[in-house]
Amino acid sequence: MPEVAFDEASQTWLLSTPNTGYALRLGADGILRHLYWGPPLTIEQAAAVPVRAPVTLTNFEGRQHDIEELPVEGGARFGVPALQVRFADGTRGLELNYSRQSVEDGTLTVNFVDRHYPVEVALHYRVYGDCDVLERWTTVTNTGADDVIEVLRADSACWSVPDRPDYALRHVTGHWAGETVLERVGVARGETVFTSRRGTTGHHANPWVSIDAGDVSEEHGEVFSAALAWSGTWRLTVSRTSTDAVSVTGGTGHDGYGFRLEPGHSRQTPVFAGLRSTGGYGEASREWHRYALAHVLPHPDELRPVTYNSWEATGFTVDEEGQRELANLAAAVGVELFVMDDGWFGARVDDHAGLGDWTANPHRFPNGLRPLADEVHRLGMKFGIWVEPEMVNPDSDLYRAHPDWVQHFANRQRTEVRNQLVLNVARPDVAEWMFRWLDELVGANDIDFLKWDMNRPFTESGWPAEGAAGSDRLWLSYVDNLYDVIDRLRAKHPGLRIQSCSGGGGRVDFGILRRTDEVWPSDNTDALDRLRIQHGYAQVYPPLTMAAWVTDVPNQQTGRTVPLRFRFHVAMAGVLAIGGDLPEWTDEERAEAAGWVAQYKRIAPIVQHGELHRLLPPDRDGPGRDAMVASQYVSADGAQSVVFCWLQSPHFGRTVPAVRLRGLDPSARYRDEETGEVHHGAVLLGHGLLPQLPPGDYASAVVHLVRL
Ligand code: GLA
Repeated sequence: MPEVAFDEASQTWLLSTPNTGYALRLGADGILRHLYWGPPLTIEQAAAVPVRAPVTLTNFEGRQHDIEELPVEGGARFGVPALQVRFADGTRGLELNYSRQSVEDGTLTVNFVDRHYPVEVALHYRVYGDCDVLERWTTVTNTGADDVIEVLRADSACWSVPDRPDYALRHVTGHWAGETVLERVGVARGETVFTSRRGTTGHHANPWVSIDAGDVSEEHGEVFSAALAWSGTWRLTVSRTSTDAVSVTGGTGHDGYGFRLEPGHSRQTPVFAGLRSTGGYGEASREWHRYALAHVLPHPDELRPVTYNSWEATGFTVDEEGQRELANLAAAVGVELFVMDDGWFGARVDDHAGLGDWTANPHRFPNGLRPLADEVHRLGMKFGIWVEPEMVNPDSDLYRAHPDWVQHFANRQRTEVRNQLVLNVARPDVAEWMFRWLDELVGANDIDFLKWDMNRPFTESGWPAEGAAGSDRLWLSYVDNLYDVIDRLRAKHPGLRIQSCSGGGGRVDFGILRRTDEVWPSDNTDALDRLRIQHGYAQVYPPLTMAAWVTDVPNQQTGRTVPLRFRFHVAMAGVLAIGGDLPEWTDEERAEAAGWVAQYKRIAPIVQHGELHRLLPPDRDGPGRDAMVASQYVSADGAQSVVFCWLQSPHFGRTVPAVRLRGLDPSARYRDEETGEVHHGAVLLGHGLLPQLPPGDYASAVVHLVRL
């Protein structure tokens, strides 16, 4: 049972999850300090934990502010301020006193009020009985009647990492077509900032980090990690003080931007979730995946359909006849969801015009979208469509009618990226327009799936009609309204499923995943690059959300030619899709594809709902017998497992290594569904599976094991 316990005498709270205890204590000075994050404790034990020793080196140190649960600006505090405010009289900072606590549905709320000014701060903690992820967020309320409070920074939480002899930090970095590349570095004394200033989550960083003592491997060791559920700009600061206190402070917004809190108004921050796990990086990922399935995703139990997407095949050249041909071929290879990408609407024949005019192009679809939707449904597939609702091309009827609907400043240029501007979705009329046309489009055409794209960052993010305050508010209200439109659309169309895309993986986070079903992780579909991208993606986000296309070779991004089998095996490790130009494929290729699709359907429940074990990760040190990469998925009941092995290039005629499997029953026997061979669990676990790889480069195999 999730539990929140309180010890009156020591003023200690203990939050308990199945494998973790997390404790905080209210000091006599009214400050809430972090006490403990480790294996489970009783409340008696938690009450006996000493507060971390104060630093008394000189007068120049603060008073244990480095371990506050939410260090505010104010007083002798010199670390990362998680909460910064300015009152109407120019006073900055807070002097908070504890006011009350409450516990409801596994959520502890501890409230504080300022000694002088009308502001209330609530710290929230939610624990679950089925996972070790703790959710934290903050609410700031202007309880006054007269004055606005300027909130310069309002983080969701500060996670204090327990004392360790040393620290290592893991995070992902990247760029368009090269997202979620995993990095492991030391933790510098100072502040390491990960941020997005682009309006959306971003390709170049993702709002999670993990910290460990530098002694952790894939299979062993204690890992502390934290992930922010927000799809706008954000900042995570990893701080290591000169006396080695390490913390991660995180929340919405980037440098220089805050918001105004009107009298009587509150702002609740998004969740910044934290996880302590003890089974190495692998177990940390599995626990995040369990959390996502149990508490984040809207349809965790559904299998994601095998998808076809037209983008790499047709580019902008889409019309009814061409899409019908693709749909027929896709159905024949076993596709379950057919998605028509960009180019179907307005004057959108390339990326110069049409964004914003969301009616079918009459030359390309003389009778609208309905005939194509009906044909796709007749073929037994679901029908999906690409949209980019937040954008407008200046060459569009929408922009000609509403030039003031875009983010802009009166006397500044409107910087175009990909020939488009960003709508000011913070405006209620823009958000309402967006909801209306999406509702109409989905309803009128029986659309089952939206690929919701967002292809450029914010620039000149002004809202002249609302002045400086509006331009600042825009950054938050944009995301609030975006979430609201998606939520309303889903409520009105319960069968609708949505993929989050932002030029590939530019909007991946637990905020968007709360209201979408999957993500397009990258525009890079090169199978070899994808192994790395998928590896970084699945550190935190579950394979069930990871769409993966098999596309043509030479690859459009990299020019690399990889066999069809290897391309399928990489894509089959996520949510399988095909994005190749099917009419150009040979009969043999289409027959081979049908075989892989059929096999994927047999293993999809294990890949999508099972547990991921990275047997041989792509980023490990050294050549490791020519660096074969291997992943295993194990079904929840342990009865089935799928093993993927990918070897780019064997060298010197070496044999491939046996791959030791995980998560099986040593006393059971398992049958290889393709070959009929029977293996002992004990041998697979203790000695390993010898993958049968074809000779030559880009050798890969998938093995489906079923317990006898
Ligand atoms: C983005 C997406 C692609 C494709 C194009 C269409 O780049 O990531 O998959 O949909 O837009 O313009």
